[in-house]
Amino acid sequence: TIVPVILSGGSGTRLWPMSRPEMPKQLLALTAEETMLQLTAKRAHGEAFAAPIVVANARHADHIDEQLNAVGATPQAVILEPVARNTAPAIALAALAAKGEDALLVMPSDHVIADVPAFHAAIEAALPLVNDGWLVTFGIAPDAPETGYGWIKVGEALADGVHRVARFVEKPIRERAEEMLASGDHAWNGGIFLFRADIFLGALAAHAPGMLTATQDAMTKARRDGVRIYPDETAFGASPSDSIDYAVMERAERVAVVPVAMGWSDVGSWDALHTISARDAQGNAHRGEVLAIDTHDCLIRSDGVRIAAVGVSDLIVVASGNDVLILPRGRSQEVKKLIEAMKDR
Ligand code: GDD
Ligand code: MG
Repeated sequence: TIVPVILSGGSGTRLWPMSRPEMPKQLLALTAEETMLQLTAKRAHGEAFAAPIVVANARHADHIDEQLNAVGATPQAVILEPVARNTAPAIALAALAAKGEDALLVMPSDHVIADVPAFHAAIEAALPLVNDGWLVTFGIAPDAPETGYGWIKVGEALADGVHRVARFVEKPIRERAEEMLASGDHAWNGGIFLFRADIFLGALAAHAPGMLTATQDAMTKARRDGVRIYPDETAFGASPSDSIDYAVMERAERVAVVPVAMGWSDVGSWDALHTISARDAQGNAHRGEVLAIDTHDCLIRSDGVRIAAVGVSDLIVVASGNDVLILPRGRSQEVKKLIEAMKDR
């Protein structure tokens, strides 16, 4: 069976004011009635999958329990990190909690996948190679020179629909991203991985041994309370902080990619959310109590107050709690600047 590993550690600053440290984007219902975490759990649910392992920040433990139970995806373990050490150590904790021969399906909790059957077909195509000891990632056809993603040079075919990763480049500079986009033989890394737990731990031993010893120590000394696992703070805190992309994927030998068209989006900004949301005939994606006359191509959302607008276009307006965000479409990456300039949020 496949063990889903759900990473839920991010703080999603670009979706302020809805996404906040105590309630980051993966815990919010942004694209549907269900939260991003619930949608993630549901897309790896069913006969082929075991109960998930969730790796999250300790402050979100209650929300996670509640949201997963509400969709019948009760986890086998919830690993609560005392501090954030990025994705490689987080995945190591899950791999140590699993059995060595388990195939781990590592999923960020803040992505949209519109075509779940295509996702399942890609997983199925990958499984023989996974059992053979390959680290598998899923490749998305790129349509922009994104510098915030990992890029994969797609190499020779290893099996039907599965290729060797000729090169893995995490977060390239703009020039490099433009070259790779133009080359026609690159894919974005979707940030979803499939590998045996023991193979991942072996890759850590080879490429990031300090991370392996720190996470092993943290799990040996962990405190357990039902399904909750609290890794030892001192031991985990001693781990280097790095992402799986830099620590393992760029360096490992046997890395494969399954290119897949599955309506993937990482919902990284309000602009991205406008693009992937259902829009009315005027191009608006509104939610909450919104009254809009003669407006078009706007995203207006509220989780409380009423928002009324007349005669505006190409605007993003988001009201949550005591805060209102207003900016023109196309500039939502700059929310990050606002966050940095704010003392509290
Ligand atoms: N538990 C835990 N602990 N989860 C974490 C931590 C952590 O310390 N840090 C990040 N995460 C979670 C985030 O919540 C997110 O769901 C996922 O891991 C990926 O982390 P990001 O910080 O969002 O990574 P990224 O977007 O910069 O890059 C990754 O995703 C891209 C696609 O969205 C890389 O894998 C790229 O190569 C990839 O293209
Ligand atoms: Mg991300």
